Amino acid sequence: MGSEVTILELEDVRAKYGLVSALDGMSFAVGRGEIAALIGPHGAGKSAALKAICGLLPVSHGEIRFNGKAINGTSMERLVAMGIAYVDEKRLIFPSMSVDDNLLLGAYCRRRSTAGVKADLSTVFALFPVLEERSGQTAGTLSGGEKQMLAIGRAFMSRPRLLLLDCPSLRLAPILVKKVMGAISELRQHGITTLLVEQNVKAVSHIADRGYFLEKGRVMATGSPAELLSWSNGSRLVS
Ligand SMILES: Nc1ncnc2c1ncn2[C@@H]1O[C@H](COP(=O)(O)OP(=O)(O)OP(=O)(O)O)[C@@H](O)[C@H]1O
Ligand SMILES: [Mg+2]
Repeated sequence: MGSEVTILELEDVRAKYGLVSALDGMSFAVGRGEIAALIGPHGAGKSAALKAICGLLPVSHGEIRFNGKAINGTSMERLVAMGIAYVDEKRLIFPSMSVDDNLLLGAYCRRRSTAGVKADLSTVFALFPVLEERSGQTAGTLSGGEKQMLAIGRAFMSRPRLLLLDCPSLRLAPILVKKVMGAISELRQHGITTLLVEQNVKAVSHIADRGYFLEKGRVMATGSPAELLSWSNGSRLVS
């Protein structure tokens, strides 16, 4: 379970897409070492929250703090250097490059010894053995599940302190969902805190320490994994 130290904090954050309000006073915190889940209906502001954290959606009000430091308006490049990695729901990879090269690109932004990068590559292959089998293959030929593994693996290669994942189970077969959730859980052993958006509440309830139920751009309830499940069954507990 996570520590008491807060790594990420959103306080009364507001953001818009043009005239459309996406975040309307969003506040929550994530403890170092935790796995926290954002759930809620379509359009609730789940993806917008991740985008605001990693600087892709400008914040008009409130504050986002990473390790106690305000990061509103910080460039994504700088945020990566600070230890934040983001995998969006489209799982963007470089399709014409090999699996290996996609992973090595993930390590590009950090100063790390060749040995360190090699060790991290071994960790990714231990988490996702299929990526080692396909390491010389072009990434575009991978299945949807393998692309998701590659996107997570590439994010790991930047050695983040905080990993933001938008719907990692999207369009994956149940067996792959289990595999991906297991890998996310293991990332904790490598000092990574994870904040993920998830539609598959049951799958995420097995690995999350806590969840936030979002609606209309704000947090409506905070709870344990069991509460996450009860919300998805329709008996939502409002905090
Ligand atoms: N590119 C965009 N342009 C305009 N409005 C957008 C855009 N992306 C999202 N929105 C709006 O912002 C609000 C929050 O959207 P967001 O993408 O965060 O929802 P979500 O909770 O991730 O939903 P989903 O489960 O469908 O992915 C919604 O009202 C949505 O319609
Ligand atoms: Mg979304």
